[in-house]
Amino acid sequence: MSPPLTNDLLLRALERQSVPRTPVWMMRQAGRCLPSYRKLRADRSFLQLCKNPELATEVTLLPVQELRVDAAILFADILLPLEGMGIGFHFDETQGPVFERPIQTARDIQSIRVPDPTEATGYVGDAIRSIQATLAGSLPLIGFCGAPFTLAAYAIEGKTSRSFDRARAFMHAQPDAFSQLVDKMCRTMGLYLESQIEAGVHAVQIFDSWAGWLTPDDFRRYAFEPVEQILEKIGSRTPSIYFAHGASPYLDILQKSSATALGIDWRISLNHARNLFGDRYALQGNLDPARLVGASPESIREGVRQTLTDYGPGPGHIFNLGHGIHPTTPAENARIAVEAVREFSPAFHLSSPVEDPR
Ligand code: CP3
Repeated sequence: MSPPLTNDLLLRALERQSVPRTPVWMMRQAGRCLPSYRKLRADRSFLQLCKNPELATEVTLLPVQELRVDAAILFADILLPLEGMGIGFHFDETQGPVFERPIQTARDIQSIRVPDPTEATGYVGDAIRSIQATLAGSLPLIGFCGAPFTLAAYAIEGKTSRSFDRARAFMHAQPDAFSQLVDKMCRTMGLYLESQIEAGVHAVQIFDSWAGWLTPDDFRRYAFEPVEQILEKIGSRTPSIYFAHGASPYLDILQKSSATALGIDWRISLNHARNLFGDRYALQGNLDPARLVGASPESIREGVRQTLTDYGPGPGHIFNLGHGIHPTTPAENARIAVEAVREFSPAFHLSSPVEDPR
């Protein structure tokens, strides 16, 4: 057991225990919205930052220092473990991820490996240990992985896409081969998250960024159930957050999740989600990230107040955006949102005996 954290608001909220205020962090908080990140990135590639534990530590801590969030998230990418599976890619400055040989046939899937994470992504474990040494028990560290469906979709599509048509066509044309690919992603991510937990993360999030393009039946089969297998593998070792972007059509399926918390995008009101899910899950979300791009400070504060009001009083809310922060967001706007959560949220937790760690 590691010693208690100075600020454990995120972990308390995940367990739906009382808190003096709502904890806040932002998906993609360490990235191009921060001038300090752009400076570090000016003479190196994104992958160089990810694969160098000292630099990854530095980048992980930037939003902690500059935005005053209540949790750090490991600086890495959901695609990193694919390299060790034999699925090569690079990041293009304008296009984002580009795969060298996108998967085209069932045979391509047979040669894909389920690697040992200490060999394939040892630098991630090193980064986690280095971040933990630097955080020195001040805040929780969130680890993460991509969900099997989202990762399979990238590996087939070969690049990012608006609707992943090629990947979905493959899924329908060759369902057995697609299931095998999803299964290999599932096993690799289970081992990968276990290795992050062993290295010391306090919570894990599974990002299913493209699950929202599936029919409800396909969502259950290719997105939800593989994530359930990963959650079963990690068991109760850390709390978990399942974020399926665009999942409003599948709320009845999500009600059976084994995750500790569900990430909610901005298309669902937290009020509706809370009524539906009752007190089975903590809920994370869901300010529209577009509000931070150019709205006035008053409008940002109003958006924060509305999000807190939608969730309502009591524990179990983790304030976040409804998806990743947009890279063109002025850092000042992200700071305004975090400060507004700190200012407004104590009124939603009047009965908490716990002291605000600040
Ligand atoms: O949240 C954090 O601050 C931690 C780091 C993190 C990154 N990517 C860093 C990153 C996390 C948690 C991710 C997750 C991720 N990566 C997702 C899921 C979240 C989501 O937005 O749905 C996805 C789909 C990816 C894949 C990915 N990585 C794409 C499509 C791109 C290109 C588009 C873009 O945003 O640039 C990336 C690159 C990426 N990942 C950057 C960062 C900081 C930008 C790299 C740079 O040019 O400096």
